Amino acid sequence: MRPTTTTNAGVPVASDEHSLTVGAAGPNLLQDSYLLEKLAHFVRERVPDRVYHVKGGGAFGYFEVTEDVTQWTKAAFLSKVGKRTPVLARLSSVAGEEGYADTDRDVRGFAVKFYTEEGNYDMVGNNTPVFFVRDPMKFPDFIHSQERMPDSGLRSNNAQWDFWTLSPESAHQVTILMTDRGTPRTWRHMNGYSSDTYMWQNAAGARFWVKYHFKTEQGIQNLTDAEAKAMRAEDLDFHRRDLFEAILRQDHPAWRVEMQIMPYEDAAGYRFNPFDITKTWPHKDYPTIPIGRMVLNRNPENFFAQIVQAAFDVANMVPGIGPSPDRMVLGRMFAYGDSNRYRTGPNYGQLPVNRPLNEVHNYNKDAPMRYHHSGNQPVYAPNSYGGPAGDPRRYRDPSWMVESGEILRTAYQAHRDDDDFVQPGTLYRDVLGPADREHLAGNIAAHLSAGVERFIQERAVKEYWNRVDPGLGARVAEHIGLTATTRR
Ligand code: NDP
Ligand code: HEM
Repeated sequence: MRPTTTTNAGVPVASDEHSLTVGAAGPNLLQDSYLLEKLAHFVRERVPDRVYHVKGGGAFGYFEVTEDVTQWTKAAFLSKVGKRTPVLARLSSVAGEEGYADTDRDVRGFAVKFYTEEGNYDMVGNNTPVFFVRDPMKFPDFIHSQERMPDSGLRSNNAQWDFWTLSPESAHQVTILMTDRGTPRTWRHMNGYSSDTYMWQNAAGARFWVKYHFKTEQGIQNLTDAEAKAMRAEDLDFHRRDLFEAILRQDHPAWRVEMQIMPYEDAAGYRFNPFDITKTWPHKDYPTIPIGRMVLNRNPENFFAQIVQAAFDVANMVPGIGPSPDRMVLGRMFAYGDSNRYRTGPNYGQLPVNRPLNEVHNYNKDAPMRYHHSGNQPVYAPNSYGGPAGDPRRYRDPSWMVESGEILRTAYQAHRDDDDFVQPGTLYRDVLGPADREHLAGNIAAHLSAGVERFIQERAVKEYWNRVDPGLGARVAEHIGLTATTRR
């Protein structure tokens, strides 16, 4: 039998369709508290969007360990071959709002929440191995350059190229973004990368610097610029629909999880700064080591509760995994929890999608919408009444040695081969094939031609693409009708 509609207080109501009125032709009545509650609830349906990575989708699944990694980490969920941990993955675009076209050129978010026995571990990465900026101070400015302009309310390629060409550290990420990997065919056909560097620590205390690579088992597939633009007209939600429908038809997408692992001592003398997120670690120096497999096999039952309100936090790391001196990681460890508190309130962690598998014990109390309480447990520490206590013998914050020095605002210390243009140049010359290079030049030119002022186009060719590769600079110049003066 169908249930009877009720008010939020459970009181049965007489109609879902008719307001309470004076006679059949008369006005509505203020005493129609069911109507008032319905309208009042309706106007409060939204929560604030994520500040970026607004449009996304996601699914649940599992991660399975396939290799013994105990020599590198004591993380409990990685402790045994064959061990499975439930996961939630959220895949997203960066710049557009909800309703924006999924296939537009953009970086894609690749966020994975591992529900482990020692708490939630969140790996919040992207589908690219590097990022646009290396200092959290520049992050809001970068995002502002991608957003809508204050006067017109329109997005501006001019602002994007102005920021990028004045921030040479962006060259590697912009090169990747302008290849066809900037328009992945679907979320299933792209890789995920931590991009940032983290620390792993084994049971004996040995430390390693690590980067995560999620390699798609579906194979990399991209759209051309033209195909991506055409899809804009056909289906704005193409990626969200593709993931949902693939899982519905039991075609469960999977990724091999592989690690780059650098011994702790290598960092100082490595030719690239291993904590600079604008750099990759060349595979020949640090080959990727397979460790497991992630499979997505269950769609959300409620998109709002499980995807919109999913709260990923870079600071959620479990014993055996820690941050590194990567400045972006350290900045990010503040911003995500702060965003989640703003969007959902301080008790966002109690929502079913965000709750860890294990019990939460601490001295945080009350605040809006808290419904798991500690009963009459002590509300302060230390106490004499059996409240929870930290365990310094079993758990220690991950740490590394820091040189003492004056407090400064300055760039990273240079490593031998640090240069903003070396790695994108290698990508262009040694990795991309002739067709990829042609698409890259064409995609750059198309993006640079859409409302970008001439002086910024000139800077882009002369001071940016020429330095990635003079041949690329020349190709872009030709496409947009500029003369490229070669300068390296
Ligand atoms: P390799 O030849 O060993 O690796 C090249 C990698 O480039 C491939 O493994 C593939 O990464 C990736 N790739 C292929 N096509 C594209 C594309 N259109 N856009 C972005 N990446 C692509 O050389 P190196 O390790 O020395 O790296 C050379 C360059 O490759 C780097 O400067 C960087 O730009 C890029 N790269 C390097 C990665 C790394 O971790 N070393 C990771 C990704 C890119 P994948 O297997 O991850 O798909
Ligand atoms: C989302 C901040 C860099 C990947 C977010 C959110 C904030 C944020 C506040 C919204 C969180 C939420 O409300 O749920 C920052 C800051 C950065 C930074 C301050 C730099 C200092 C990066 C980098 C990556 C990244 C380098 C990738 C390697 C993501 C992803 C999401 C996200 C994937 C969406 C997570 C989800 O699906 O809910 N970021 N970010 N961010 N960020 Fe960042």
